[in-house]
Amino acid sequence: MFTIGVLASGKGTNLQAIIDYIKQENLPIKIGVVISDNPNAYALERAKKEGIKAVCIPCEKYKTILGREIEKKYVEVLKENKVELVCLAGFMRVLKSTFLRSFPNKIINIHPSLLPAFPGLEAWKQALEYGVKFTGCTVHFVNEGIDTGPIILQAVVPVLPDDTPETLHKRIQEKEHIIYPLAIRLIYEGRVSISGRKVIIK
Ligand code: GAR
Repeated sequence: MFTIGVLASGKGTNLQAIIDYIKQENLPIKIGVVISDNPNAYALERAKKEGIKAVCIPCEKYKTILGREIEKKYVEVLKENKVELVCLAGFMRVLKSTFLRSFPNKIINIHPSLLPAFPGLEAWKQALEYGVKFTGCTVHFVNEGIDTGPIILQAVVPVLPDDTPETLHKRIQEKEHIIYPLAIRLIYEGRVSISGRKVIIK
């Protein structure tokens, strides 16, 4: 059994897509734990409904990072639950070196744009305001930068003339729900390797 951990701060639709895909494809992948920094994250409810361990480790001290002590707690819980791959699914804090060093090349993230365009917050809004005709989503390895790690998979989404931030984000999320579970599967199958900035998929 390949064990993953999912970190989520919000609705958890990506978490749900991962849960559903594992079931549908009957994969030997177990979600060992779901952790949130937000006690009200619906992702925690989704985990509980599926019988998955759900843990909240809040951090009021900082807004955008976890802080060294709290990072240690996250790592502890992930290791206790034998997590081999950490999947950020709408986790809205930047991970620092303590965390990254504990899971080298074993942390991935889903971002709602075609990176390197529009890193950071509300990428779908950034794309709309910039006026691009196409945007999308990216699954990438996490490094020290913000949304700068090697890219595993991307999917393209057109921006339509009457799009609002909400309609565009919804269309991007439909693609996220396809490529994120797929990226996890490829890693589980041992088909993903990193060569410099490039990710090679066998
Ligand atoms: C997703 O669109 C994800 O790409 C984005 O947050 C949303 C979470 O949705 N992540 C980021 O913006 C990270 N920088 P979900 O809680 O329904 O999975």
